[in-house]
Amino acid sequence: MKRKILITSALPYANGPLHLGHMLEHIQTDTWARFQKMRGHECYAVCADDTHGTPIMLRAQNLGITPEQLIADAKKAHEQDFAGFLVNYDNYGSTHSEENRQYSYRIYNALKANGKIANRTISQLYDPQKNMFLPDRFVKGECPKCHAKDQYGDNCEVCGTTYAPTDLINPYSAISGATPELRDSEHYFFKLGDCEEFLRSWTSGRVNVNGNDRLRLQEGAANKLQEWFDAGLNDWDISRDAPYFGFEIPDAPGKYFYVWLDAPVGYMASFQQLCDRTGIDFDAFWNKDSGAELYHHIGKDILYFHALFWPAMLEYAGYRTPTGINAHGFLTVDGQKMSKSRGTFITAESYLRHLNPEWLRYYFAAKLNANIEDIDLNLEDFVARVNSDLIGKYINIASRAAGFITKRFDGQLAADLGDSGPLAKLQAASEQIAGLWESREYSRAIRDIMALTDEVNQWVDAHKPWEIAKQEGQDAELQRVCSVLINAFRILTVYLKPVLPKLAADVESFLNIAPLTWADASTLLTGHTINVYQHLMQRVDPKNIEALIEENKQSLAPTSNEPAAAKPDYEIPEIEPVINIDDFGKIDLRIARIVNAQHVEGAEKLLQLTLDIGLPETRNVFAGIKSAYKPEDLIGRHTVMVANLAPRKMKFGLSEGMVLAAGGDGGLYILTPDLGAKPGMRVK
Ligand code: MSP
Ligand code: ZN
Repeated sequence: MKRKILITSALPYANGPLHLGHMLEHIQTDTWARFQKMRGHECYAVCADDTHGTPIMLRAQNLGITPEQLIADAKKAHEQDFAGFLVNYDNYGSTHSEENRQYSYRIYNALKANGKIANRTISQLYDPQKNMFLPDRFVKGECPKCHAKDQYGDNCEVCGTTYAPTDLINPYSAISGATPELRDSEHYFFKLGDCEEFLRSWTSGRVNVNGNDRLRLQEGAANKLQEWFDAGLNDWDISRDAPYFGFEIPDAPGKYFYVWLDAPVGYMASFQQLCDRTGIDFDAFWNKDSGAELYHHIGKDILYFHALFWPAMLEYAGYRTPTGINAHGFLTVDGQKMSKSRGTFITAESYLRHLNPEWLRYYFAAKLNANIEDIDLNLEDFVARVNSDLIGKYINIASRAAGFITKRFDGQLAADLGDSGPLAKLQAASEQIAGLWESREYSRAIRDIMALTDEVNQWVDAHKPWEIAKQEGQDAELQRVCSVLINAFRILTVYLKPVLPKLAADVESFLNIAPLTWADASTLLTGHTINVYQHLMQRVDPKNIEALIEENKQSLAPTSNEPAAAKPDYEIPEIEPVINIDDFGKIDLRIARIVNAQHVEGAEKLLQLTLDIGLPETRNVFAGIKSAYKPEDLIGRHTVMVANLAPRKMKFGLSEGMVLAAGGDGGLYILTPDLGAKPGMRVK
């Protein structure tokens, strides 16, 4: 039976780069979608950028660009990352689209007609300088409990207390530094409390998928929901006052939908774009009585939105609700939260510059399961698994057999595979492995596939084609053994293809065959001519991982989930007299990589830096930054230097330039360019 399936990933915010935590989710989704397509089902995967809200508005302001420009740039970067990781969405949209506006309005109007929208006046902190209401994260002040300074408006990072922004002592706007005032404003609410009965039964309900009856939500999610029900469901504030980057609420000028109202609607909007392009019937997937399956892949942090708000919105707006909400845990690196200072906050883009995307796809698959557990990327284990499983066990099967087939048999496989060794067992495993992909037990699927791979390798070791090759009159046997191996490799490739799409495509052209589908596991290749084997995959070199971590140690541009500015507690010096562009042009600023940094004997304030600016000769610079930096923290970082400053003879040697640093009485901070800038590039 051909199933209709729509699957989504959470929409990444458009104000920052994607990192490996995001990629965990996208790889999980992509793998599942590819599997379903290989099974012959009508499966679509869609996603989009989540573009609205205060952080994006403020970040654009800080950059001096429009939010539209900011989100266009982010979308381009995100799409590049997906292409790089072979994550193939059938449509990648944006919540700032006409389709999304239409569906958001339609849903809002339906909710209103159903009596699910209320409005009332609330008091909120207002920034009188910036003329805007302040989201909790944009108010800072002293914790009312432990008196720690500079805490956010929702909770204290020092003592963990949660409170309202109005509870802060000496609050200030994190945007302008101004003291906020309380002001009244009318807000719109979605009456979630009214939906409790529906939500209790929906969240504890069962679904029948493809003949299997199972709980709609994962066990961990169901437990979390019980806690939320016990705590009581509050009405949800879905409006924000201007200025706001988002959709204005119909019939409420100056009021905008809160970003999380229109974000999940983006799933529909993105799918609508796909339908418009290809003629798929939107209603067949979203109508109340739709028989299609709908799954949302999300991280555990956004379960509340997807398991409560979203199904309630859909239900009371007259649409179908999701078949399942598949939540995953968070990615840690070497057992710890990803950290910018440890270099483990790895951006997707930087990973791709150093390592092969399919290594990570394989590693994530080898760790993922259907539960909401955190997943650890252990870098040593990553190298070991890729090298031993993928290269040592799987790729090795092809490389051992292909040479003989090419050299001795003109690329032709045996017409008869005789006693075909492990092939029957490999083929018999097809439905078992499909079942594991289907139920999102990826790690078990990989474990079973690797166990089969082991059996194939044992069979090679028992039959030793390299010895048969030396024996007279054994040509037919050599061709047969190698053909069995090529067939084993082909079947294993079917099972791994959802995870390794590029490798599978390379295998298909090596084997001179059409794109593999799941059904191909039950057939064999005989008497067929294959192409010359070309190396399919490199081993991971741990050096590349070190380089990746080093590069990510450089501080990344802060994402605008962080408030833009704090109340200055340092002097702001006067602006210097005006210069013209020619004056500025005389200063030759270059990106420099700090290849070495060391203490200088007898110098109190200086560090000695060796700078690579892309030229054969490095530069020697004495910089007065000893108070702020340890030499070992600087090595490998990129910064900016004045490259044409007259050399200066100092007590300790010749200083050939200057590195740029921000400073004054508020500390000392050397500049770091955005990721991607390379030594020797001119800064203008
Ligand atoms: N924009 C919202 C989602 C709206 S969906 C209608 C959002 N964006 S996000 O960029 O912060 O996160 C996108 C997804 O990435 C979420 O599912 C989130 O859980 C996931 N992850 C973000 N960091 C992660 C890890 N470190 N590990 C695993 N997943 C992580 O939330
Ligand atoms: Zn506190």
